Amino acid sequence: MRPSIESTHVSSPPVPQDTVVAPGLAAPVSTGVGADAIIRFQGVSKNWGSNHVLKALNFDVAAGEKVSIIGPSGSGKTTILRILMTLETPSEGLVTVDGDVLWSVNAGEKVRETRQLRETRRKIGMVFQQFNLFPHMTALENIIEAPVHVLGMNRAEAQERAADLLKLVGLAKHMNHTPPQMSGGQQQRVAIARALAMRPKVLLFDEPTSALDPELIGDVLNVIRNLAHTTDMTMLMVTHEMRFAEEISDRVVMFDNGGAVESGPPAQIFKNPQQERTRTFLRAVLQH
Ligand SMILES: Nc1ncnc2c1ncn2[C@@H]1O[C@H](COP(=O)(O)OP(=O)(O)O)[C@@H](O)[C@H]1O
Ligand SMILES: [Mg+2]
Repeated sequence: MRPSIESTHVSSPPVPQDTVVAPGLAAPVSTGVGADAIIRFQGVSKNWGSNHVLKALNFDVAAGEKVSIIGPSGSGKTTILRILMTLETPSEGLVTVDGDVLWSVNAGEKVRETRQLRETRRKIGMVFQQFNLFPHMTALENIIEAPVHVLGMNRAEAQERAADLLKLVGLAKHMNHTPPQMSGGQQQRVAIARALAMRPKVLLFDEPTSALDPELIGDVLNVIRNLAHTTDMTMLMVTHEMRFAEEISDRVVMFDNGGAVESGPPAQIFKNPQQERTRTFLRAVLQH
């Protein structure tokens, strides 16, 4: 189901307090994605001191959907992904993944990590801007690390699967190379293979090509494009590659100032944006 344009508007009604604090209840906010949502943010805020980075955010992604987030620097895009990876804690609000509560936080309350949080967290993989590979380990070792140590997968099986994944990202020959022996583009493709090794239901990308030299971007985008077209994984990508976002996304969400300004199919966002903020942003970024 293609979500409606209204799905992430800032004008969505605030989530009632009692629902935010009661995990497991049916979601009260009609966001357009509805029962299909695999990722759901309801009334999520994130503050660093007086810096209100996310402001009562309501945001859904449907199972299997490929969603790109665009928007200016500092608007909270990375924070959304890091909350999903449990690398940051929301200040308030409810986040569910695949029907399970990842975060349920009352304002001012201390958040505890639960077993359920760790299990839910395993459904999600992330590809970082700066690759974040272990520099002293080979490509293969980087990929098998989590399957062996987190999932308890047998080493031989993990290695076999890692070799297949390296083939998938076009790096079969680099299995025994360490990150310093590889280009940034190759390292990022290893990072994608590493995320896939955990068989995530949801794959997050945080500006996966913005740290790369221009001539290395294409190979990384090809790998992501291939995943988008051939898998039913849910993909949520923050990107400045506007043409790429237009091509592979089911939906594009324009972010500004801690909230979604506009959400819709790529044809709407890039050809016929409804919000002035989207228009000014796209004019600025498409100029060069
Ligand atoms: N660990 C942190 N401590 C304090 N402020 C932070 C931290 N991480 C992010 N911020 C602030 O949160 C805001 C949004 O950051 P971010 O989510 O990285 O934005 P984007 O990815 O859209 O550029 C920025 O103002 C940034 O300075
Ligand atoms: Mg960012």
